[in-house]
Amino acid sequence: LVASMDGVEETYIMVKPDGVQRGLVGEIISRFEKKGFLLKGLKLFQCPKELAEEHYRDLKDKSFYPKLINYITSGPVVCVGVVASARKLIGATNPLQAEPGTIRGDLAVQTGRNVVHGSDSPENGHREVVDTLADASQREKLIAKIGGRS
Ligand code: TYD
Repeated sequence: LVASMDGVEETYIMVKPDGVQRGLVGEIISRFEKKGFLLKGLKLFQCPKELAEEHYRDLKDKSFYPKLINYITSGPVVCVGVVASARKLIGATNPLQAEPGTIRGDLAVQTGRNVVHGSDSPENGHREVVDTLADASQREKLIAKIGGRS
């Protein structure tokens, strides 16, 4: 989730390649809509390897990192920005531990194929929205406003 410029919380969501391939895009977006979250951006996107590496840079030293990068770049993803905090709706990283009623709890079984991503901090949410959903002019304004990248 991200505290946006006007102080309203925003979350960056990504339906991962397995979610797109399994035809779960509508189902997943529908859950955010039904909950009452406002959709702010939506995009079908082939994530370049460089951006996947940037997105998961904190996990660079993990044994599963190469598989994660291969997986996330293996097909199109759907990027969604919503206004509200969405982490609870997504559920735990390991879908077998995610509560029933959450997206991962209801729709997935493997940690490495857990159908959806949701930003986990204001900084990451902001960065992810800027990287994928902002158009070029908006992106420049946002980056100027936050004073560039850390
Ligand atoms: P992480 O950021 O810890 O989880 P989350 O997606 O819930 O924020 O990890 C990012 C992704 O890395 C996770 O969604 C699936 C993958 N992953 C594995 O494949 N194996 C693992 O043991 C972990 C912890 C994550």
